[in-house]
Amino acid sequence: MDKLVVTGGHKLKGRVTISGSKNSALPILAATLLTPEKCTIHNVPDLSDIRFMLAILRFLGSEVTFEHGTVTVKAEKIHAEAPYDLVRKMRASICVLGPLLARCGEAIISLPGGCVIGDRPVDIHLKGMEALGAQVATEGGNVVARASKLRGVEIYLGSKFGSTVLGTDNVMMAATLAEGTTVIEGAACEPEVKDLAEFLNKMGAKIRGHGTRRIEIEGVKGLHGVEHTVIPDRIEAGTFMIASLITKGEVTVEKMEPGHLNNFIERMKSCGAQFRVGPDWVTSTVPRKMASLDVVTETYPGFPTDMQAQLCALMSVTDGISVITDKIFPNRFMHLPELKRMGAKVDLEGSTAIITGVPGLSAAPVMASDLRASAALVLAGLVAKGRTEVNRVYHIDRGYEQIDVKLRALGAEIERVKSPA
Ligand code: EPZ
Repeated sequence: MDKLVVTGGHKLKGRVTISGSKNSALPILAATLLTPEKCTIHNVPDLSDIRFMLAILRFLGSEVTFEHGTVTVKAEKIHAEAPYDLVRKMRASICVLGPLLARCGEAIISLPGGCVIGDRPVDIHLKGMEALGAQVATEGGNVVARASKLRGVEIYLGSKFGSTVLGTDNVMMAATLAEGTTVIEGAACEPEVKDLAEFLNKMGAKIRGHGTRRIEIEGVKGLHGVEHTVIPDRIEAGTFMIASLITKGEVTVEKMEPGHLNNFIERMKSCGAQFRVGPDWVTSTVPRKMASLDVVTETYPGFPTDMQAQLCALMSVTDGISVITDKIFPNRFMHLPELKRMGAKVDLEGSTAIITGVPGLSAAPVMASDLRASAALVLAGLVAKGRTEVNRVYHIDRGYEQIDVKLRALGAEIERVKSPA
């Protein structure tokens, strides 16, 4: 398994172009199953999660190409049984459920396993499919859903954790071809959900209220092929902004949407960071010492759980005591033991990390456990004294396109070391 070796001590400076959003591209790729016509999608990041999804679409019978950030998919003749060995590798595969059910009248998908950031139930997805009129059963580790016809319904999709992003996506996609109108209350408002709705409306769907807690979908007879450009990845942008702050550098992230990170930017400002904001770029600097911070992650537009691990890295070298609670994924703290190995002073009480800032970190071999935890360890390595080895870097390749190349271009001393096969 490859590793990233980071030698700390360099202030990052310069400009970095943000790639297309992984969490927007994945459900949009699944939505291509809703039409037999060709769809063309631009600004798709070249990530292992994207390639998993393309392999699933090919397995289902779609013709797929992927070149220079553009994907074409033609799902002319498809079957409805997704491949276990691919689905188990990526939780987001669950978002083929709604499109397959709507297009084929059935869907057979292996239940996604849990993962290190927590048990990843799909109960709300299944509740949504049943509400639309499907018979849903779990057989031998598979979800088996069947419906001769889907009918519009009014449904509440919230849970004790708030809204569900992919659950909202699944119900929205299935409802596009249902008879009658579906109303989703307690819908997820993430920009990626809104981008999917825009894509579906271009295909001929009739969706209103996307981006709010109440989405209305008027069913139509069929959907047609479409061309679309995926929105920028707000979490990649936020990660590079923290890279600038943690190294006390001056990095400008470009080709991004500042408005997608309002909460994050406001919270960082409150502890001393400064930002110059343009229409599609943000420059991040730390003119003086940063102060500690108390944060609770929330659904959009609150502070994103996907930035929690990266924030922990930043706060581990910021004076004072920071209290960071993850209300979305209460167990999403696998990065803390590894940050401790680098000298961070962190305690975990339930789903709350208590971080006492230290003057500096020291390099150590550390183990990546999940996508955002591995990003946090690379960020810590940028300021740790010495050479930090981040092992199992396949985690980071799931969600960051060429992160080592982009960081090196900003002045980081980082290299990818291929492990002997
Ligand atoms: C999406 O996952 C993102 N992934 C995640 O990003 C992100 O962390 C998450 O939304 C929250 O913003 C993609 O978009 C591909 P949820 P999703 O359903 O949709 C619970 C990353 O790092 N829940 O919004 O799977 C769930 O356990 C990834 O890029 C149920 O209880 O997350 C969690 O506690 C990680 N029952 C909360 O809701 C359900 O049926 C939010 O999960 C569904 C979810």
